[in-house]
Amino acid sequence: MKYESLDFYRDNTLRYSELSHDFTNSVYTDSSHPGLRDDMDLLRRISELAPGKRGLDAGCGPGGRNVHLLNTWGLNVDGIDAVEENIDLSKELHTEISDKLQVVDIGMELPFDDAAFDFVMCNGVIQHLPPETTENITVPEFVRVLASGGILQLMFKIGSGVVSVLDKAYGSDSVERTFQLYDEHRLVSVLENLGCSVVPSAGENELGGLIYFNDHKPMRYCVFWARKT
Ligand SMILES: C[S@@+](CC[C@H](N)C(=O)[O-])C[C@H]1O[C@@H](n2cnc3c(N)ncnc32)[C@H](O)[C@@H]1O
Repeated sequence: MKYESLDFYRDNTLRYSELSHDFTNSVYTDSSHPGLRDDMDLLRRISELAPGKRGLDAGCGPGGRNVHLLNTWGLNVDGIDAVEENIDLSKELHTEISDKLQVVDIGMELPFDDAAFDFVMCNGVIQHLPPETTENITVPEFVRVLASGGILQLMFKIGSGVVSVLDKAYGSDSVERTFQLYDEHRLVSVLENLGCSVVPSAGENELGGLIYFNDHKPMRYCVFWARKT
């Protein structure tokens, strides 16, 4: 079955949430940094780097796993997603944080004040946005809602143009999904123009710099952390 962008999540909300909550598809291969093995390493790193507790998970996904986990760690995290079914399921599964979850399109101005957050994380979401929107609206909005010293964690698929790939994790038949790829150096330069700088690599034990890895499909990703100065 072939999917166009967000319809995939509407049709596979529950399955995506199950795979997410048991971390089935959250283990990476061919990581360029020995300290990055899975989604949990990313969650630990953003919580270490954040200068405070207020966070935003932009494109939190079906079931809102990361919003839930970070709140159980004592952080104060909001989750937003463009797909209503994703937010409804997140509220159903994690009633204690239902007032922190809302439907928001990150391709538009965000409904938060300037400097509202100490960190923003956006994992595997800009793959659903045109690059012009990401560069001119989404990333500037992330920076606007970050406090000075705040951290953006941005994870995305790398390359150029749009690709379609088969994902075997959804039933007996593979589903075909389409993604926008990004040039990581261009995104770094967009962030630098907005007054942010990439957190440098600090050896084997501390995640930093530009880190690359594969997911289960497999597709190649980059993740980095940028601090607003
Ligand atoms: C691959 S999932 C990633 C979910 C989550 N960040 C994670 O790491 O598991 C992509 C998510 O981005 C959401 N999304 C796509 N376009 C969006 C947009 N314009 N605004 C907000 N969320 C969006 C989708 O609905 C989906 O839940």
